[in-house]
Amino acid sequence: IPVDPFDLVIFGATGDLAQRKILPGLFRRHVAGQMPTDARVIGAARSDLSSAEFRAMARETIAAHVDPALQDAALLEDFLSRLDYVALDVQAGTGWEALRSLVRPDVVQAFYFSVAPVLFGDLAEGLQAQGIAGPGARIVVEKPFGRDLASAQALNATLAAHFEESQIYRIDHYLGKETVQNLMAVRFANILFEPLWNAQYIDHVQITVAETVGVGGRGAYYDRSGALRDMVQNHMMQLLCLIAMEPPWHFDPDAVRDEKLKVIRALQPVGRGDIVRGQYLAGGGGPGYLEDAGNPSSDTESYIALRVHVANWRWKGTPFYLRTGKRLRARTSEIAITFKEPPHSIFDDARGWRENVLVIRLQPNEGINLKVMIKEPGPGGMRLVQVPLDMSFATALGAEGADMPDAYERLIMDVIRGNQTLFMRGDEVEAAWAWTDPIIAGWQARGDRPQPYDAGSSGPEDALMLMHRDGRRWREIR
Ligand code: BG6
Repeated sequence: IPVDPFDLVIFGATGDLAQRKILPGLFRRHVAGQMPTDARVIGAARSDLSSAEFRAMARETIAAHVDPALQDAALLEDFLSRLDYVALDVQAGTGWEALRSLVRPDVVQAFYFSVAPVLFGDLAEGLQAQGIAGPGARIVVEKPFGRDLASAQALNATLAAHFEESQIYRIDHYLGKETVQNLMAVRFANILFEPLWNAQYIDHVQITVAETVGVGGRGAYYDRSGALRDMVQNHMMQLLCLIAMEPPWHFDPDAVRDEKLKVIRALQPVGRGDIVRGQYLAGGGGPGYLEDAGNPSSDTESYIALRVHVANWRWKGTPFYLRTGKRLRARTSEIAITFKEPPHSIFDDARGWRENVLVIRLQPNEGINLKVMIKEPGPGGMRLVQVPLDMSFATALGAEGADMPDAYERLIMDVIRGNQTLFMRGDEVEAAWAWTDPIIAGWQARGDRPQPYDAGSSGPEDALMLMHRDGRRWREIR
């Protein structure tokens, strides 16, 4: 179903995100028939390009980043004909005139700030001062949204000076992932899980986001950030919220975000013994973190594992173990919910017994897998064995790779529709920083250094201990 006619202005249109994600994502939506005929995309950046040159760039990036099966020549020409370009230098204050002449006042207006956060203020102010943004205009901003509570508050205040909260779309691309949205469907559209969804029945939760890539190429940004700021404060926190939150009264932006905020506020401070930080060593043909970061004395972590408690009625006593890292054994993102033992076993031979585990696999091979106990087949008596009830989305729904919309596609279309449910509200972001700030302050005060770990491994040894001492084990990264 096409959305309403829109003008989408991408500031930073020649940058990496616009080229790799935004333009290819928009083209895929066009192929899917979702772009109305009078939708326009206006690239804006400092480079002195003509619209024709910008279209040529878009043509290349679409060829490189869109599945060949979707590359239809006629559709591509039609898509490119909707692109325009304006050379705009916010700091110099040039280019606004040209932009104003292109942005229509009577369609949905969306302004994507795909630029460094230091420019957010000038952009927001310019859009208003130049009379470009109409009353219903939307702005889209990317992470990093601050690097601590104070800077996030300052950014929020800057944006709030020019736009209402209902106009501000803070992207966390994890919320746009199909399986992450499925987490809400699984929890709230089935009667099966919710009655068991609490500390009485859930032993613990593991959230893993493991990557095989290093930070090469982004070293300068990453070294000032680290895994806690880059992944935990935003993406992993959002996953935790969706698992731990109370049922919202409605699938509605503020109802959902109110519940997530309550979870973040209920997070207990994390003690020193609940954190393990790591830094990858050279190996597998790749350089080590220190070399990638271009900083031989860096104490930034490329891996972090944490034990987290949500201090509320539902979760008292159920730990959430979070881990994320670069240059690990495999690219795997999953949430695994391990249930407790049945109160009493009626079987004499319980050797095969294992806990029920619900695994929500975010990537790759998106799907849901519930491990249940059955009788081992055969005449050998009553022996137990665990089998997976497996639902791969690709097979169950026939949605193969190219059909699964990318997170950005979904989120950009939500901006046009005016639906903020999958975007972070300002108070959520601030609450998340309020929780991470003391963690960082703690290790800075102690001068903690991350532990080295082998590239291609599962992370530092101490991370194993974080669970072992609770009598639990991490799931394998594979
Ligand atoms: C980004 C982080 O937000 O998310 C990157 O800055 C990380 O460091 C990326 O690699 C992971 O996203 P995805 O979608 O590949 O899991």
